[in-house]
Amino acid sequence: MFELATPHPRFHRSFLAATDEFLAAGEEPYAGIPNLPPDRQFDGLSLTRAEMDDPGTFARYATWLAGLREPDSPRPANYVPSTVRWMADGDEYLGQISVRHELTELLLTWGGHIGYSVRPSARRRGIATAALRMILPTCAELGIDPVLVTCDPDNVGSRRAIEGNGGVYEDTRSGKRRYWVPANVGAPTVADTPA
Ligand SMILES: CC(C)(COP(=O)(O)OP(=O)(O)OC[C@H]1O[C@@H](n2cnc3c(N)ncnc32)[C@H](O)[C@@H]1OP(=O)(O)O)[C@@H](O)C(=O)NCCC(=O)NCCS
Repeated sequence: MFELATPHPRFHRSFLAATDEFLAAGEEPYAGIPNLPPDRQFDGLSLTRAEMDDPGTFARYATWLAGLREPDSPRPANYVPSTVRWMADGDEYLGQISVRHELTELLLTWGGHIGYSVRPSARRRGIATAALRMILPTCAELGIDPVLVTCDPDNVGSRRAIEGNGGVYEDTRSGKRRYWVPANVGAPTVADTPA
């Protein structure tokens, strides 16, 4: 059954298969390989694809991602706390969606509250649309309503997922279409989830 799961070591094999799909598609920014240099408040977290094969390393990475929701979690200086969820069907990793708990200047203009990606082999099955719908109650719980979601003008899939969740277009800034999505729309039913 499709769900939004907390990052967990049980996804190791499937997560790395998805990583390899993203890399093969030339989509390294979505491949889930952390490349975060140290800064004044963070020790840094950079891994290679080969290092992620190690179960212990992957488990620590998943735990770090899950902890990002805590206000005092270790994270880069320009990161706000965020709730990270993995789109999943059983132990099958399908993609990632995260909610940034606050908007910085850059997020207000460009990045928005939410980021998401679906592994190439799972696209065009309604997964991004469903994941966005299913994360909205989490946004409402965090006091985020409406939710800012942005996309590139030529990203048809993302644009349709946003508009399919009631996103109201505001404007385009720095090349990003900016939408406000109402969060208080109630929890989804099982019938709403993709096949
Ligand atoms: C954008 C992305 C998340 C869409 O994921 P997805 O699970 O394939 O999206 P959905 O299946 O929910 O598609 C939503 C709608 O867009 C359509 N769509 C999806 N991809 C499309 C494409 N490449 N071209 C045309 N239409 C597309 C779907 O048919 C669906 O249409 P509908 O609402 O009429 O049914 C995915 O392509 C992705 O991960 N891309 C790389 C990362 C990225 O761009 N993230 C978003 C940053 S803003």
